[in-house]
Formats: sequence, C-alpha cells, structure tokens
Amino acid sequence: MRNSKKQNELLAVERLKASERLATEIAHELNTPLGGILMYSHLLLDDMNGRDPLRENVLKINKLAHRCKIILQGLIDFANNEDLEMSPVDVNRTIRDVVGFIEDHVLFKGISIENHLDPALPNVKGDESKLGQLFMNLIINAGESMGGQGTLTLSTDLAPETNDVRIACSDTGGGIADEHKGRIFEPFFTTKKRLKGTGMGLSISHGIVELHGGTITVQSDRGHGSTFTVFLPTPDGRPALLSDRTGTL
Ligand SMILES: Nc1ncnc2c1ncn2[C@@H]1O[C@H](COP(=O)(O)OP(=O)(O)OP(=O)(O)O)[C@@H](O)[C@H]1O
Ligand SMILES: [Mg+2]
Repeated sequence: MRNSKKQNELLAVERLKASERLATEIAHELNTPLGGILMYSHLLLDDMNGRDPLRENVLKINKLAHRCKIILQGLIDFANNEDLEMSPVDVNRTIRDVVGFIEDHVLFKGISIENHLDPALPNVKGDESKLGQLFMNLIINAGESMGGQGTLTLSTDLAPETNDVRIACSDTGGGIADEHKGRIFEPFFTTKKRLKGTGMGLSISHGIVELHGGTITVQSDRGHGSTFTVFLPTPDGRPALLSDRTGTL
C-alpha cells in the first residue's frame, strides 16, 4: 500500500519533469514566430484605414497573439529560473509585502486574511522576487478557490526536525478533487474557465521551490479547503540534498 503510494508519487514527479522540459522547449520554439505574428498584425493595422471591413479580423489576430504571448511569458519565466539572485530573505516581510499588494484587490474583498508569522523566523537564502512570485501564486489560487468569501491563513515557523522554514497557505475554499491532486503542478493544468487560468502558476511555483532546494506539498479535502506547505532550507539547517528534497508533490 505504502509502496504503491510512493511509486505513484515518483511517477507524478517524472511526469512533471518531462512536461516541464517539453514546455520549456515549446516556449523557446514558439517565441520567435509569435513575435512575427504580433509585429505583422501591428504593421497591417497601421496600414489599414479605420473603416476597413477587415480591420476587425486583424484586431482579433492581434488580441489572440497577445494572449499567447502572456502564456509563453509564463513558460519563459519558468525557464529563466536558473538566473537566481540569492541573498538573505526575510520570508515574513516578503509575505507581508505580497499581502499588502493584494489585500485591496476585489478578489479578497470578502475574505479575511489571518497572519501567524513567527517573529523569530531565520532568514532563508533565496531570490526575494521569485519567492514573492511563489507566495503571490499560492495566495491568488487560495483567493480564487474561495469565490469571494472565506479565510486565508498564512503561517510561518521553523520546522524543528530539519530547521527548515515552513510556510503554510490555507484557504477555506472548494478544495481539490482527488483525481486532480497528482496533476496540479503540471504546466497548463487548470480547472479554471478558458482565458481565466493558464495553468502555469503552480508549475512555476514548483520550479521556484525546487531551485531553492525546498519542497512543496498540498493537503486538500473536497469542500473543506486546501493547505499548500512550502519548506525552504536555512543556512543553519541540514545540508540541502536536492535529490531527497525535490519533487514532493
Ligand atoms: N488553493 C486551491 N484550491 C483549490 N484548487 C486549487 C488551489 N490551488 C490550485 N488549485 C487547482 O490547481 C490548478 C492549477 O493551479 P495553477 O495555479 O497552476 O493554475 P491556474 O490557477 O488554473 O491558472 P494561473 O495560475 O495560470 O492563472 C487550478 O486550476 C485548480 O484546479
Ligand atoms: Mg494559479
């Protein structure tokens, strides 16, 4: 029983890694022709007069190409994760900055945000802007899962067994269906309406955590909310062994 769970987890990690590689290659291959489509549609629009009956169609091409560009940008950010700017990061401050940024957003209007941030938390060695992006992705997903009402709880502490910094982002939203749990970190996996989600948020987040030598796990019950927990190694913790830390889904 335990063995088959472990095997399934390993399979999910392999599948995720393969799709990450594929997604990165596709992003690079598509970026140049897409840039051409955007440029030529702009040139056509410049040359057309305002009442040209074909203008509407060219505008549509331009708009859809822009949408593709946004999706590709997500993939390219993900591919560029190698260029990390590492420095000591105060995770509590990064979380507070992200919360300050989103709390007035309409998505969080009816949502109460609770912070339980350990004031004695040590710094982690990390890339502050990438970690901010990670927390933002988790918080936005939490907000989207609650449909305008509920509680978002953000907590940090030091995991005593490993000296890792533990960050938990919990929501009281709809939760994740069992059949989706193994897929949520895959690029382009989304259950959101067309044009709403690209399905890139969690795969980018997973990549960020992995490059920090950490792990990300999810615990979720349908109808009872979800908790995403991130562990990030601290300089005083046990040495970051990439092989035994990565890929915990
Ligand atoms: N907090 C959560 N509660 C419920 N489901 C979630 C939560 N976080 C993620 N999910 C599920 O995981 C899927 C993938 O999330 P991910 O952030 O990668 O993409 P997305 O949110 O759909 O789109 P994007 O982040 O690109 O806008 C979501 O579509 C949703 O089904
Ligand atoms: Mg998302």
